[in-house]
Amino acid sequence: MCGIVGYVGPQNSLDVILEGLRRLEYRGYDSAGVAVLAGGRLTTVKKAGKLANLEKVLAEESLPAATIGIGHTRWATHGGPTDRNAHPHVSADGTVSVVHNGIIENFAVLRAECEAAGVEFTSETDTEVVAHLLAAAYRKTPAGDDRLAEAMRTVSRGLEGAFTLVASHADEPDRLVASRRNSPLVVGVGDGEYFLGSDVAAFIAHTSDALELGQDQVVVIDRERGVSVTDFAGAPVEPTAYTVDWDAAAAEKGGYDWFMLKEIAEQPEAVANTLLGRLGAAGELVLDEVRLSDQELRDVDKIFVVSCGSSFHAGLIAKYAIEHWTRIPVEVELASEFRYRDPVLDRSTLVIVVSQSGETMDTLMALRHAKEQKARVLAICNANGSTIPRESDAVLYTRAGPEVAVASTKGFLTQVVACYLVGLFLAQVRGVKYTDEVAAIVEDLRALPDAVATVLAGMEPVRELARSLADANTILFLGRHVGYPVALEGALKLKELAYIHAEGFAAGELKHGPIAVIDQGTPVIVVVPSPSSRESVHGKVVSNIQEVRARGARTIVIAEEGDEDVVPYADHLIRVPRTPTLLAPVVTTVPLQVLACEIAATRGLDVDQPRNLAKSVTVE
Ligand code: F6R
Repeated sequence: MCGIVGYVGPQNSLDVILEGLRRLEYRGYDSAGVAVLAGGRLTTVKKAGKLANLEKVLAEESLPAATIGIGHTRWATHGGPTDRNAHPHVSADGTVSVVHNGIIENFAVLRAECEAAGVEFTSETDTEVVAHLLAAAYRKTPAGDDRLAEAMRTVSRGLEGAFTLVASHADEPDRLVASRRNSPLVVGVGDGEYFLGSDVAAFIAHTSDALELGQDQVVVIDRERGVSVTDFAGAPVEPTAYTVDWDAAAAEKGGYDWFMLKEIAEQPEAVANTLLGRLGAAGELVLDEVRLSDQELRDVDKIFVVSCGSSFHAGLIAKYAIEHWTRIPVEVELASEFRYRDPVLDRSTLVIVVSQSGETMDTLMALRHAKEQKARVLAICNANGSTIPRESDAVLYTRAGPEVAVASTKGFLTQVVACYLVGLFLAQVRGVKYTDEVAAIVEDLRALPDAVATVLAGMEPVRELARSLADANTILFLGRHVGYPVALEGALKLKELAYIHAEGFAAGELKHGPIAVIDQGTPVIVVVPSPSSRESVHGKVVSNIQEVRARGARTIVIAEEGDEDVVPYADHLIRVPRTPTLLAPVVTTVPLQVLACEIAATRGLDVDQPRNLAKSVTVE
């Protein structure tokens, strides 16, 4: 949520910042702004709406040439998405310009103190108070190279909540200062140039050398002195260096109309990358990177999977697989609820936190709660160097590559696959499955990338179907067993992209209430399990299709190749390759992603940046 860029170096800072903001716009797009420093003066330009609005203004105004500056793209929390509330915010004396991601929880008290001292505020944001406080702290701090950092440390110590702050001071032409608590910030180190970004996408076109920052740290990037980091008390800290393994091209659209289409198309490769090097030649799991010992894994007597949104749906799928393979009880929790209901956790509990971005605040807070209760925490994450894997005991990266579209696709699919790997690894280490049983599932996993590619190759009828559904008021999604979370995921995709009311149900629940909403022509999408599924779940779902059809529903059926039982009851039939039941979500989700994307595009909506949403949700 909110994208931040800072730059110091030889290049035209405005160009670097705008390029970074373009890559970060998926984090928030309610407004955007920049501030550059030249000749001892800060020039700030900001505009409500998408980045394109700001670029239009900048094209009309000529900003002074500068080699230092900051930029911001906003997802509004305090104050509506207006020009005035857009960042950067400037101190009353004009010396400080600041951008912020997060929420300053004690801003009302701080604002009242500033107002009592005669400061006039020009916005409704929680951020503006930092600009005034930083300017005042700077005035009181003795001159010297450390002055800006010391002023930022003073201000940061007095703030509550979550924040990444990046600030420029008119009297400091060679350095920017930043501070972070609970919100993301990474440093890019180039050749004589330095970058600050909410994530590496901000500077990926310039350098792949990055520094990871910890909690409660202040960093200065300085033209001459490079990067220096301290904690809030001023003690020096050595940041962790790492190399970004995503290239700039991976974060481009590559000829597709939308990032989402590109990311959907990348799924066979993304799934293959999640599996890469983790399936041994003898059909065993090789997860050396999971830093939990075999004994720790053998001691686990309960598992929680904790996550939000699509990642929560991945957790729901994981429950079926992990319980079946390991016989360990698994509970799946929304991260935003987890810590508030006082879950029973102890040393033998494994908490699996699932997060594409690695920055979701609800998930991060749940993780910290789990650690306080002494549980072991394993992260399944896509973004290298992000906060959630850094604070977890162990991590399994999904390796999906950068996911730019706000709606998760390859991020989700690879989370599901990573959950399978964890479940199967637990079964292997604990000896609850014979070697040949594990090897058989490993073979099934190896087949997944091709199965996803086969689904993608047959999507033309889904595109046609999308055009006929674009005017629907409500679309229902049904599934049983692992098809139930797939139905939830399909409904979420449709809601967030096409703004059509959509709900996912466990097919068996339908007759307990929801069936009442079905009317003549209501589209109902049914995810049908394999005919080989256990305890005739398949037969039950076929009955459910007949029930909704008898009440006028227009049935859209997703079923395995060769499943002839569904044919008489399907108004539209979408075929997917035969896949073992527990792994089927990896193929059945894909047509639902394509459907939502195409319906949104048909309705003329912005597929990559749906209204009111942001990619990385860094507020609770
Ligand atoms: C939906 C979507 C969101 C995210 C959720 C969690 O398409 O993308 O529901 O899944 O915000 O995000 P991460 O996985 O980054 O923690």
